[in-house]
Amino acid sequence: MSRPHRIPIPRNGVDYRGKVVLAPMVRSGELPSRLLALKYGADLVWGPETVDKSMIGTTRRINPVTSTIDFTRTPSNPQRAQPDVQKESLIYRIHPGREADRLIFQIGTASPETAVEAAKLVAGDVAGIDVNAGCPKPFSTSGGMGAALLQDPDRLAAILTALVKEIGLPHEIGISVKIRLLETPECTEALVRMLCATGITGLTIHCRTTPMRPREKAIREQLRMIGDICRETGVACLMNGDVKDRAEALELAKEYGVDGAMIATSAESNSSCFRSQDEGGLLPWREVVNEYVKIALEVENKWGNTKFLLAQLMPGKAEVSRQISSCKGYRQVCEVLQLSDLVDMAQDVDKRLGINEDRMSKAMKKAKHNECARAAGGKMTKQRVKDADAKTPLSQRGIGKGKAQQAPMAV
Ligand SMILES: Cc1cc2nc3c(=O)[nH]c(=O)nc-3n(C[C@H](O)[C@H](O)[C@H](O)COP(=O)(O)O)c2cc1C
Repeated sequence: MSRPHRIPIPRNGVDYRGKVVLAPMVRSGELPSRLLALKYGADLVWGPETVDKSMIGTTRRINPVTSTIDFTRTPSNPQRAQPDVQKESLIYRIHPGREADRLIFQIGTASPETAVEAAKLVAGDVAGIDVNAGCPKPFSTSGGMGAALLQDPDRLAAILTALVKEIGLPHEIGISVKIRLLETPECTEALVRMLCATGITGLTIHCRTTPMRPREKAIREQLRMIGDICRETGVACLMNGDVKDRAEALELAKEYGVDGAMIATSAESNSSCFRSQDEGGLLPWREVVNEYVKIALEVENKWGNTKFLLAQLMPGKAEVSRQISSCKGYRQVCEVLQLSDLVDMAQDVDKRLGINEDRMSKAMKKAKHNECARAAGGKMTKQRVKDADAKTPLSQRGIGKGKAQQAPMAV
């Protein structure tokens, strides 16, 4: 048997031991979600998986308005856009002052060379690089990334080894991996041993196999064995899957002999799950939503992403959720939520993001239709609604204004 590989925690890295952390989540792990999780006590935060090829070719800029580091690139299909109206796409945004020493950048990759090339771009701005070897979605696996790497352990080990040598050591940060369970304990054991010998400092085990759906209950049977191998080889082990809050995370970690836990869906629906029982535990959704809006405004988060996140954080049945779903910008959101102290700031952010809230949403149009119908004492034809609409000033019908900013996904 080969000698256990032990690697100390690098100077600019972080130890995953004893930590309860926010899981990587595409869309749900953008900057404001991470800052919210940190505010409520997450010890570390993973960014959403970002594919190496989408990171390569980005430009790193300091954004003086939001105090963030923005990695941007020109759209990949420039021929479809007018050259003078082409907008840079934001691929990744980091807040150096509020998260960088606790942020792990998760990469989607199928090759040591492109993984290293992409990781080089962010290595100086984050506390660690994690490789996604668990995503079962075809967009990931068809390119040999995510869970496809579990079927090609030599390639996965080569990626981790290259990242340790060319990124981890020179930048003095940790390299880690997030995997799923294999079909048998023997297969999982062989994989974990192989990965722990690459020089990584951390390993997260999502306690589900690749074919398992997110709603299926996580499996704990192999967890103790994985934790034992990690401890034996000096690699920190986080467990993931069906962990609902900090208290449960610490209990489960103790029960199964692992170093900490990672939370995804519970944090997506209420990030105050990171609060300890002493602090009062879970907060009411309303409080969490208000805090989220404030942070989203501070970092000028893409409107489409903010709207998506609000839908995750709010109970679908609440009347206010329905009102939020028809909002066209930050100002309207602040008004619906009665955040009067944020309305001026929201208006400025809407302007800077190019959000044209005058364009009426379908829901608002329907409300107007009903209002007109009531005023007319009966049913309105489409033409009559148009006519009624024509009486509103052009500015309020969004004529002459640009398209509201859409939110391109990180991966
Ligand atoms: C919206 C969403 C996006 C996700 N994106 C990623 C991702 O980018 N990278 C990754 O490794 N896992 C991703 N996952 C999986 C989670 O990190 C986690 O492994 C899984 O949800 C199980 O944890 P849970 O039971 O706490 O939800 C995502 C999950 C969700 C719900």
